[in-house]
Amino acid sequence: MPSITKTTPVEKSKIPFCRPSLTGRELKYMEESIRTQHISGDGVFTKKCNSLLALVTEAPKVLLTTSCTHALEMIALLLNLKPGDEVIIPSFAFVSTVNAFALRGAKPIFIDIRPDTLNLDENQLMQLITPKTKAIVALHYAGVGCEMNIIKDIAGRFGIELVEDNAHGLFGKYKGRNLGTFGSLAALSFHETKNLTCGEGGALLLNDEKYFEQAEILREKGTNRTKFFQGKVDEYTWVSLGSSYLPSDMLAAFLLAQLESAETIQASRKLIWDYYFEQLSDWAEQTGAKLPNIPQYCQHPYNMFYMLCPSHEKRNHLIEHLKKRGILSVFHFLPLHLSQMGQKLGYKRGDFPVTENTSKRLVRLPFFNSLSQDELHYVCEAIFEASQTW
Ligand SMILES: Cc1ncc(COP(=O)(O)O)c(C=O)c1O
Repeated sequence: MPSITKTTPVEKSKIPFCRPSLTGRELKYMEESIRTQHISGDGVFTKKCNSLLALVTEAPKVLLTTSCTHALEMIALLLNLKPGDEVIIPSFAFVSTVNAFALRGAKPIFIDIRPDTLNLDENQLMQLITPKTKAIVALHYAGVGCEMNIIKDIAGRFGIELVEDNAHGLFGKYKGRNLGTFGSLAALSFHETKNLTCGEGGALLLNDEKYFEQAEILREKGTNRTKFFQGKVDEYTWVSLGSSYLPSDMLAAFLLAQLESAETIQASRKLIWDYYFEQLSDWAEQTGAKLPNIPQYCQHPYNMFYMLCPSHEKRNHLIEHLKKRGILSVFHFLPLHLSQMGQKLGYKRGDFPVTENTSKRLVRLPFFNSLSQDELHYVCEAIFEASQTW
């Protein structure tokens, strides 16, 4: 039965935002990959990760990539985006969510979010669709599903591709179905802040067979090398645009160990998330802070714990106070439409009020598998303390 670690002494000067931890077999598998003398991409461990990820996500095909950013870049290449094409993306998103498409010359069309789940507001989609719209990018914030039935229906009606940025949402479900399997293409992240990690890493989920072959070519630098290794062609050559999106098999070895321990990892994260939620519920009600809202038909994967403070000033005061207590908490997602690039695209303050308001009030608390009960207690006490001078 998993439990929150009880033995770690609270190093009060140091509760980081994230502390990566080993689950057991990481070093053994990495050593094994070195011994097999295959540490470049697509070795035994990469293949095992691909299969295991396909099994757990129920996506028909999965390819490990060097990052979620690169999986998103592959998606933009697979969609064959051209300058002038439009892609609808929440302004409350990570830079890579938009950059991958902007790199191909596509124009980001930003959309506001819902105040409850912080996911793109599906009610605003229709008014943004034009004949140039090529894709909608649904980002499942904190791994809580967007309103996928509605979004998928709209995309289907207009013949627009649906893409999922599922960086936060491995193991998340919307109405019983795995996140990452609604769009034709989806991206995962294995960055150190994610539930499962190999430091830097990601995966491309392919839910539409028409992309299978091209995806292999893209990540093999635009060559048909995969076909060559399968004995389907006598030599391999440059056949299309592409790049190098293959992680080293040593990183895949690390990730495989994490994947194999997914159940234990998820159980620890659930305990930590539930602890925060229970300890902070009354306090939130009294102070006007908001804890995450999880619709009852969404299964979230305990990716992060965030809160919305009553005001921008109170959020900043909280972050500062926690810092003084040696606790690192962070804000998340500055509105993309207000970034330098967003302003160049013609966006301005006031365009997406929910995004702007959320971004100013959101704080993410330390969240990692080995966060101990003493540490959790210490963080919550420091939060109570901070709000006394709000
Ligand atoms: C929503 C979202 N998309 C994409 C990324 C990029 O992930 P990676 O660091 O694996 O490239 C992140 C990073 O945390 C993210 O939060």
